[in-house]
Amino acid sequence: MNPSAIKKLNHLLVLILTSIISFLPAFSQDKCMITVKADNPIAAIQPTMWGIFFEDINMGADGGLYAELVKNRSFEFNKPLDGWTVQPVDFPYVPFQKQFGEGTVMIVNRQEKNSVNPRFIRLNANNVSKGKLGITNEGFRGMGIKKGMQYNFSLMYRQQTAGLKLYVELVDSTGKNIGEVILTPSETGNKWNKQSVSFTATSTEPKAKMNIWFEGNGKIDLDIISLFPGDTWKHRAGGMRSDLVQMLADMKPGFIRFPGGCIVEGHDLSQRYQWKKTIGPVEERQLIINRWNAEIVNRPAPDYFQTFGLGFYEYFQLAEDIGAEPLPILNCGMACQFNTAEVVPVEQLDPYIQDALDLIEFANGNVNTKWGAVRVKLGHPAPFNLKMIGVGNENWGPQYVERLKIFQKALKEKYPGIKIVASSGAEYQGERFTYLKNELKKIKPEFIDEHYYNRPEWFLNNATMYDNYQRDGSKIFAGEYAAQSDRVVSTENKNNLRTAIAEAAFLTGLERNADLVNMASYAPLFAHVDGWQWKPDLIWFDNLHAFGTPNYYVQKLFSTNKGTHVVPALTNGKPLTGQDSLYASAVIDKNTNEVIIKIVNSSSVEKPVCLEIEGVKRLISPASVTILTGTSLEQENTIQSPLTVKPLEESITVNEKKINVTVNSNSLTVIRIGFN
Ligand code: AHR
Repeated sequence: MNPSAIKKLNHLLVLILTSIISFLPAFSQDKCMITVKADNPIAAIQPTMWGIFFEDINMGADGGLYAELVKNRSFEFNKPLDGWTVQPVDFPYVPFQKQFGEGTVMIVNRQEKNSVNPRFIRLNANNVSKGKLGITNEGFRGMGIKKGMQYNFSLMYRQQTAGLKLYVELVDSTGKNIGEVILTPSETGNKWNKQSVSFTATSTEPKAKMNIWFEGNGKIDLDIISLFPGDTWKHRAGGMRSDLVQMLADMKPGFIRFPGGCIVEGHDLSQRYQWKKTIGPVEERQLIINRWNAEIVNRPAPDYFQTFGLGFYEYFQLAEDIGAEPLPILNCGMACQFNTAEVVPVEQLDPYIQDALDLIEFANGNVNTKWGAVRVKLGHPAPFNLKMIGVGNENWGPQYVERLKIFQKALKEKYPGIKIVASSGAEYQGERFTYLKNELKKIKPEFIDEHYYNRPEWFLNNATMYDNYQRDGSKIFAGEYAAQSDRVVSTENKNNLRTAIAEAAFLTGLERNADLVNMASYAPLFAHVDGWQWKPDLIWFDNLHAFGTPNYYVQKLFSTNKGTHVVPALTNGKPLTGQDSLYASAVIDKNTNEVIIKIVNSSSVEKPVCLEIEGVKRLISPASVTILTGTSLEQENTIQSPLTVKPLEESITVNEKKINVTVNSNSLTVIRIGFN
């Protein structure tokens, strides 16, 4: 062959090889694709890293976590008989009063100054027989009643003479009795008395109602009419739904942020969250309208109020129960800037600051302090060990900066150890965000709360968001995030596998940057299938059941595989942040001597992955592999099919330092393996 022919042939060979290489996957399989440097801890993972965001939205508290079954138990809703029907229903309606042959039913206002619970119901019965005069409560979209379960009924009453018998009866959707108890109030005089009775339900019903029938002769005033199931969390009287708390506990959250969210700010300042009004006897907790009542135009919820039966004491107790650091967020003197944007003049900010100082004393002070003594009296002698406090939610602009500085000064003067969580506004970019970030650089709060609600693609593209983020002292609290399958505040959003996988990819970026990102939480947390305003949400429930979304399982997999230190997981010397649609992060757990690798495959094809673990003597076979995937990106969990998308665990054999796995299409895979 002449030299020119050889040259041509060579050229052809190079062309063929180049084209073959360009069709090969980005990673050659003879060399391990991901190298995990287990002996090179880059940063400690904070115990707080993965947590919970709680807000009373979507019937998250009243009608949800708070297990009270009676809606408008104290007749304080704007319409005093909201949720109630006076029986018989066909009698002509006279506002606030029903007149019967056999009696009257009337809402009475105590007209007392400063009363937090002004209204009650007054029944006047004339030799009435059972079934002729009564009141019915519809519950929160019905009452979830379980066969064989004990139900604890209570009310406050006042009467001058005894003469009435009350039949408390649960009925199913057809009106059939599914449980009953008789209550005979016996105390007389001007004082209010509390009476409680328990009974057992004979049938399961998701949408039961409660009737109270009156029998006999007499006049009686009733208030705080209440019904709780016997199986509340830790069997606490007036407690929380145990199935919902269990789902939180199962996440092993590092912190719980409460009470929100926008609810902290209020539509205007009169509706802001005031923690002092949420503790003590429930009849002394002043109810207010829930700001989500009318916020989402096409999901109005006119019967959505905050009774505060679930208040700050209960939030602290919940945090303690599930091993999470409490993170209260307080109003900073500004109402929601998407609503009225009402602002307290700086000269009048003192009560707001005092509330924050008093809250720290309430949580941590001893019995010799005013608010510490209140906590002790409520039944918790030990401190709650509050370490951090949020000043404002999604507040921005110079007005926020001015108020934050005043809060910071006052809080640090009295409690230098308390860490401050500052808002960064509602967006993670743009003029308002940049302004605030620059100001916060000077103020240096310990944490900056950043929120991201965006399309799944955004989450996939932003797994690198914190890789080159300025480290200027403050740590990041990724306080609210959720991939929106449609758009923010759209009622069409879905909790499908697509959004969950996109979030998982993003979370590998948070984990990789654990030196900077110290806390992260999905938002919102809860939604009632018949009472929601905002989608998507982490956990859905009806009156009897609850289920985790694919997004819940992503959060849970990160949280329960937190590890103690982040280590490099590199491909060609770089973090895996979407090359070939793969994302990865790795941690070691120094307590258990394990390495934990999370791999996200956002493509529609499965991929063989080889992992080489450097810096260990040997790996201990087998490794546990947990996979969250599905057959389609559109898959969702539902009440009827709660586990369509769920993690599956298997174990695989590994050799001394290598792990070979095939990661499913559209999946999050968590590999956990011990090492020497
Ligand atoms: O998570 C729902 C809402 O979104 C929160 O209340 C608010 O902080 C954010 O805008």
